[in-house]
Amino acid sequence: MATYDTILVETRGAVGLVTLNRPKALNALSDRLMAELGQALDVYESDDAIGAIVVTGSEKAFAAGADIKEVAGFGFMEVYKADFITSRWERLARCRKPTIAAVAGYALGGGCELAMMADFILAADTAQFALPELTIGTIPGAGGTQRLTRLVGKSKAMEMVLSARRMDAVEAERAGLVSRVVPAADLVDEAIRVAQRIAAFSGPVAMMAKEAVNAAYETTLAEGVRFERRLAHSTFAIEDQKEGMAAFAEKRQPVWKNR
Ligand code: CAA
Repeated sequence: MATYDTILVETRGAVGLVTLNRPKALNALSDRLMAELGQALDVYESDDAIGAIVVTGSEKAFAAGADIKEVAGFGFMEVYKADFITSRWERLARCRKPTIAAVAGYALGGGCELAMMADFILAADTAQFALPELTIGTIPGAGGTQRLTRLVGKSKAMEMVLSARRMDAVEAERAGLVSRVVPAADLVDEAIRVAQRIAAFSGPVAMMAKEAVNAAYETTLAEGVRFERRLAHSTFAIEDQKEGMAAFAEKRQPVWKNR
């Protein structure tokens, strides 16, 4: 396993756990951190023993956003040529395996945007979400205006982006930004528990389920349903569907072959 400076990685059974670890900067998302997160995700994605991935931060901060001190001096040509954000930040959104963001404390700016790239967000009761980019003279640039709007609707997304106000965990659950709120002390254990449950299913079938839900973001209802139907049909061509249904009829646990 590679060693990293800004993240910690740990494998718990079939779950890969990545902990953002720049405590002095409240996990500000430096270029190095995003590169290391991408590397860790590459490793877990290519490891057949891993069925789901959890990304978390500290009790105080999931992440307080892009590293403002690092990016403050960037010029347009520099960020354009380097394809800033696109080149490093979107690896989590591109994961094919199921991913969970376990968020405690601050999830601000890029931190909130990174959490929204996961398949779902499990929040501690201490979580606080905001897109405060306007306070520093810029706008959300890592998908915040698009993903938050799809998750919570235009009105709340507009208010969050334009006023930069924070949303607490209770409001975030009510608004549909997070799937559930749990006590802060249980956050990582609960995220691992859910991830282990997901990882215990047939891996390719879980990936297809994720692909189908994600299509709802990108297509019309008719196209999305058509895509879902074809994926559902295709599961009838794989061994794990035969095993799953046979196990049900024989009143036993299925043994997945991941094929
Ligand atoms: N970038 C760089 N450093 C950061 C940081 C960030 N986003 N957030 C916090 N830090 C650093 C602080 O500078 C401070 O470092 P020093 O001790 O060296 O001064 C350290 O982390 C602790 O922070 P504070 O002393 O500010 O802690 P606090 O508890 O008083 O406040 C906070 C916490 C409210 C999160 C405050 O730090 C804050 O407002 N941070 C910035 C939040 C923000 O604006 N995020 C959006 C970034 S822009 C973005 O993300 C763009 C995009 O779309 C990709």
